[in-house]
Amino acid sequence: MAKRAIITGVGHYAPPHIMTNHDIEKLVDTNDEWIVSRTGIRERRILDKELGTSYMGVEAIKMLMKDKDLDPKDIDAIIVATVTPDTIFPSTSCRIQEAIGAVNAFGVDLNAACSGFVYALMTGASYIETGRYKKVLVVGADKMSSILNFKDRATCVLFGDGAGVVLLEPGDDPDSGVLDCVLRSDGSGKDCLYMEAGGSLHPASHETVDKEMHFIYQDGRTVFKFAVTRMADVSAEILERNNISGSDLRYFIPHQANLRIIEAAAKRMKLEPEQVVVNIERYGNTTAGTIPLALSEVYYSGGLKKGDLLVFSAFGAGFTWGSALVRWAI
Ligand code: ACO
Repeated sequence: MAKRAIITGVGHYAPPHIMTNHDIEKLVDTNDEWIVSRTGIRERRILDKELGTSYMGVEAIKMLMKDKDLDPKDIDAIIVATVTPDTIFPSTSCRIQEAIGAVNAFGVDLNAACSGFVYALMTGASYIETGRYKKVLVVGADKMSSILNFKDRATCVLFGDGAGVVLLEPGDDPDSGVLDCVLRSDGSGKDCLYMEAGGSLHPASHETVDKEMHFIYQDGRTVFKFAVTRMADVSAEILERNNISGSDLRYFIPHQANLRIIEAAAKRMKLEPEQVVVNIERYGNTTAGTIPLALSEVYYSGGLKKGDLLVFSAFGAGFTWGSALVRWAI
């Protein structure tokens, strides 16, 4: 039997600078009550202008390395899920690889927007399951403030900056580690949530800058409707096809885009509130960062023990969505 990929370490980083809803009230026509009641967000973190996403990934990995006493030379691969790479190329994973001294690792970036971490976890787990690699870092990190239009109240209130990381290693127990993943895409969502310019279709030009095409755009209502049903669908599906009921789960760790989307998924899974990990009020939507950041917070607060069953679920641009079933193994 092929080895399972088990999570043997975690880390996270949230920049120290806090931007509250009241700070945003000074920038656009919005208010704390609207933001909290529609999204659950009270504040978010903003990374310094001169730092990129790789900085947060490196800080998250440093936290993991300190906890694990991990030698960077032993790392085989670094997968970075992000939609806000430091540069389109070279990859953010190569920057991180250099910064942490992982001289024997290869690095690759992966873009599945808010579902990026679930996709990257599946990819990293598959690397381990082949038997070819023994230590794979899976990072989810985004500096959303770098693509936010702080004149657009429909988007700027929703997002923040943050990062998380897990270390995957082989495990012998077939009932522990990354047990299953459901990944889905629907490209018809491309017109509902996007950043139009900066790629090969609309390279940076005076026109793209004048038209503010380097910012995130979202048709919030349409995305909301898709997210509510699709994230609940894959969360329920992964339980059903593994013959698990909601009460068997220790934690549901969902992507943190909107509290109402999280609650809809939790309801479909018949979960109690204490099973649902929510930190959206402090960080907003950090895109690929949300799930590993939340997982790491639970871990360092002492909330996880060997054998705990976890489900991660996400929905994001593409559209992309997915879920993962994990049994905690350390
Ligand atoms: N403050 C005050 N009023 C606002 C704000 C704001 N910040 N933003 C919008 N409004 C107004 C709108 O203009 C609208 O006014 P109108 O009725 O006069 O036109 C009204 O509030 C209601 O707007 P809706 O868009 O219908 O509000 P909704 O209840 O849908 O909430 C939200 C908006 C929070 C964006 C929600 O639609 C949502 O969460 N969408 C999904 C987000 C998501 O999951 N994204 C996926 C991940 S992101 C990624 O992959 C990168």
